[in-house]
Amino acid sequence: MKKGLFITFEGADGCGKTTQMKLLAEYLKNNGKEVVLTREPGGKGLGEKVREILLNYDGPVSDRCESFLFLADRAQNIDIIVNPAVEEGKIVLCDRHIDSTVAYQGYGRGLDIKKINMLNNIATNGKKPDLTFVFDIDVETSMQRVGKEKDRMESAGIDFHNRVRQGYLELAKQEPQRIKVLNATKSIDEIHKNVIKIFEKIV
Ligand code: TYD
Repeated sequence: MKKGLFITFEGADGCGKTTQMKLLAEYLKNNGKEVVLTREPGGKGLGEKVREILLNYDGPVSDRCESFLFLADRAQNIDIIVNPAVEEGKIVLCDRHIDSTVAYQGYGRGLDIKKINMLNNIATNGKKPDLTFVFDIDVETSMQRVGKEKDRMESAGIDFHNRVRQGYLELAKQEPQRIKVLNATKSIDEIHKNVIKIFEKIV
């Protein structure tokens, strides 16, 4: 059977990527495609438990420990959800993936990016998404959208989130074939149309 597709949605907290992922899912389903939605951290089962620790644990968490937890969750998501569905010919849409770790733990926390790439490679068995959307937004607007109730990652500060944004833009420069940057300050409908345009062109 023809293999499916693996598409990831990336960007700052509050950039609107989850909304866009759901809109693309609707569009694909209306066109007769089988679609699976997942997210990192999370997905289902154990992944959701790891997510709970990563976002809400209120004691000290070392940067390296944080990275390994995201990576453990990734391996689980790839093995249990993504790969089986792609093998069955489905289109898997994933809210955050490898580029989040490079942007947040690499550019944001300052961990060695070469090492993160190596670890990402181990967590995914070397498979990269077929297509990645980065929803680019300035930090002020994204933090306004997130509001006052911030989780552990969202509370990391303006400088941290500026570095994350730069990280995503840098990644897109390095892999322009896979990573497409969209302006996330446009209307939901306009962004959705751009997502579809890119999807149809590439896929
Ligand atoms: P989430 O609620 O999914 O954020 P959003 O709805 O904005 O996507 O929380 C995920 C948080 O975890 C988010 O702040 C980004 C962060 N994160 C990392 O730091 N590294 C990673 O590898 C991943 C997957 C997420």
